[in-house]
Amino acid sequence: MRRRPAEYRRPVRRRLSQWIWALIGMFLIAGLVLFVFLHNHPEDQVKQPIMGEHAIKEPIKHRGLNFTKEILNASSFSRQLAEQMTLAKAYVIIAKEHNNLHLAWELSKKIRSCQLLLSKAAMRGEPITVEEAEPIISSLSYLIFKAQDAHYDIATTMMTMKSHIQALEERTNAATVQSTFFGQLVAEVLPKSLHCLKIKLINDWLKQLPLQNHAEEKRNSPRVVDNNLYHFCIFSDNILATSVVVNSTVCNADHPKQLVFHIVTDGISYGSMQAWFLTNDFKGATVEVQNIEEFSWLNASYAPVIKQILDQDSRAYYFGADQVMKVEPKLRNPKYLSLLNHLRFYIPEIYPLLEKIVFLDDDVVVQKDLTRLFSLDLHGNVNGAVETCLETFHRYYKYINFSNPVISSKFDPQACGWAFGMNVFDLIAWRKENVTAQYHYWQEQNADQTLWKLGTLPPALLAFYGLTEPLDRRWHVLGLGYDMNIDDRLIDSAAVIHFNGNMKPWLKLAIGRYKPLWERYVNQSHPYYQDCVIS
Ligand SMILES: *[C@@H]1O[C@H](CO)[C@@H](O)[C@H](O)[C@H]1NC(C)=O
Ligand SMILES: *[C@@H]1O[C@H](CO)[C@@H](O)[C@H](O)[C@H]1NC(C)=O
Ligand SMILES: *[C@@H]1O[C@H](CO)[C@@H](O)[C@H](O)[C@H]1NC(C)=O
Ligand SMILES: *[C@@H]1O[C@H](CO)[C@@H](O)[C@H](O)[C@H]1NC(C)=O
Ligand SMILES: *[C@@H]1O[C@H](CO)[C@@H](O)[C@H](O)[C@H]1NC(C)=O
Ligand SMILES: *[C@@H]1O[C@H](CO)[C@@H](O)[C@H](O)[C@H]1NC(C)=O
Ligand SMILES: *[C@@H]1O[C@H](CO)[C@@H](O)[C@H](O)[C@H]1NC(C)=O
Repeated sequence: MRRRPAEYRRPVRRRLSQWIWALIGMFLIAGLVLFVFLHNHPEDQVKQPIMGEHAIKEPIKHRGLNFTKEILNASSFSRQLAEQMTLAKAYVIIAKEHNNLHLAWELSKKIRSCQLLLSKAAMRGEPITVEEAEPIISSLSYLIFKAQDAHYDIATTMMTMKSHIQALEERTNAATVQSTFFGQLVAEVLPKSLHCLKIKLINDWLKQLPLQNHAEEKRNSPRVVDNNLYHFCIFSDNILATSVVVNSTVCNADHPKQLVFHIVTDGISYGSMQAWFLTNDFKGATVEVQNIEEFSWLNASYAPVIKQILDQDSRAYYFGADQVMKVEPKLRNPKYLSLLNHLRFYIPEIYPLLEKIVFLDDDVVVQKDLTRLFSLDLHGNVNGAVETCLETFHRYYKYINFSNPVISSKFDPQACGWAFGMNVFDLIAWRKENVTAQYHYWQEQNADQTLWKLGTLPPALLAFYGLTEPLDRRWHVLGLGYDMNIDDRLIDSAAVIHFNGNMKPWLKLAIGRYKPLWERYVNQSHPYYQDCVIS
C-alpha cells in the first residue's frame, strides 16, 4: 500500500518525464535568480521565485524588519515556510498527475494560507512568530509526508533538483543545508530497498532457531566485558549502515579479532540486525546486538527526554495540538525525538563494566586502524572529539540561546563546538564527573525548548563543557552528506569520514563523488542485497 509496485508506475513514466523536465526548468530558473540575487543583492528579485505567483506586487515598506534578509535567514520561520511551500507546490503537480485530487486540494489550501501569512508579515514588517508559523508548518509537513509516502521515487528526483539550488546557497552558508526542514524530511524516510532487506532478515531470524541460540551464546561471551579488548558502540536502526561501520572498522584494523562492537537497535530492527551480524563475516570481531526496549532502567521517571517525548505538550509543539491525534505513528517518532539518538548519553550505564569506548555514528566509514585512539592521552577529560569551529558558525552561541542568564553566566558563547560521530569516551572519568546527571539537568531546563530547539549536540555541548579533549582533525572528517567540495587529500588522510547532512550514501540523493567510499564496504554479491537494492 505504501509503495506502488513497479508495473503500476511504468505507464505513467512518459507523462512523468514531461513534468520532471518542467520542474527541472522551474528549479533551474529559480536557482538562477537566487544565484543572481546572492551576487547582486537587489531586493525585489528574490521575492518572486520564493514566494511564487501570489507574491506581493507593491514594494514593501520596511520598518523594523528587512524582509529580504528575513526570508534568507536559515533559522527564520519565513524561510521554513517558503521552503515548505516550494515543495508543497511541486507535490500539487504530482498529486494531480496521479489523480489524487483531494491531496492536491488540501495542499493548495495550505499553500494559500502560507502565502497569506508571508505577505502579512512582509506588510507589517515584523518577523513571523512561532504561534503563527507552527500550525501551518505542522499541517504542511503532515501533508508532505503523506504525499512523499505515496510517491517516494518522485520525491527523490525532486530532492535532487532541490539540492542544485541548495548547492548554490551552500557557497554562502553551508549551515543552511543542514538546517533546512526540507532535506530533513527526505533523509528520514527509509528507502524501499532497506525495508526489503529488513523483512528478509527478520524472516530468517524468526524461522531459524539456531540463529537465536547462537545469539544467546554471544550475549554471554566474556569478550563483551573484557577491558583488554577495543570496544565500539553504534546505536542505529539501519542495518546496512551499521554493517558498513563495522565492516570498514574491521577491514582497516591490524587485529580485527581484538575488536568488540556493541550495537543497540530498536525492537522492530532487533531480529534483522541479529540475523545480519550472525550470518555475515566480520573477520572474527565480536559483535553484540541489544534491543533498547529491554533497558527497563531507561524509563520516563529516570530520563527526562523520555518524559518529554511522552509529554503531549512536547508533541504539540512540533505537530500542533489538533494534529497530534491525526498524525501517523511514524510521524510521532521523528529522528530528532528518537530515543536511539539520545542513548549516547547513557553509555556508562549500558556498559557498566567497560572503561573506554569509541562511539561511532551509523553514517560514518572508518578508513584507518582506530585502536590508537584508545591510548591517546585525554588529560583527564571525558570526551575526545574533533573541534568544528574552523568555520565561524560552529561556536556555542550558534547552538544555544545565550539570552538566558542560566546559560550566559556559565558558558562562553565563543567556546568552540565539537562533533559527535567519532568520539572516544573515558567511562571512568564520565562516571566521576556525573556527565549523565549534567545532561539530565540541561534536558530538564529545556523542557520548553527555549535553550535549544532540537538534537543531541546542544545538550552535549553543555554536559561535556570543559570535559572535551580536542583531537587532530584527521581523526574525523565531516560534511560528506552536504558539502560537495571537500578536498580529496583531506578525505584520503581521514581515519573516519562522516556523511553528516541530508545526502546520506544509502539514499539516491547521495553525493556521487563520495558514494563509492561507503559502497565498497557493502557485500554487493549478497543475495539479499541483489534482490533488494540492485534489482
Ligand atoms: C535589506 O537587506 C539586503 C541584503 O542584506 C540589503 O542589500 C538591503 O539594503 C536591505 N534593505 C534595507 C531597507 O535595509
Ligand atoms: C535569523 O532569525 C532568527 C530567529 O528569527 C534571529 O534570532 C536571528 O537574529 C536572525 N539572523 C539574522 C542574520 O537576521
Ligand atoms: C525506572 O528506572 C529506574 C532507574 O533507572 C528503576 O529504579 C525503576 O525500577 C524503573 N522503573 C520501571 C517501571 O522499570
Ligand atoms: C557526582 O555525584 C556524586 C553523588 O551524587 C557526588 O558525591 C559527587 O561529588 C559528584 N561529582 C561531581 C564532580 O559533581
Ligand atoms: C531565549 O531565551 C530567552 C530568555 O529565557 C527567551 O525569552 C527567548 O524566547 C529564547 N529564545 C528562543 C528562540 O527560544
Ligand atoms: C566488507 O568489505 C569488504 C571489502 O571492502 C567486502 O568485500 C565485503 O563483502 C564486506 N562484507 C560485508 C559483510 O558487507
Ligand atoms: C558476500 O556474501 C556472500 C553470500 O552471503 C558470501 O558467499 C561471500 O563470501 C561474501 N563475500 C565477501 C567478500 O564477504
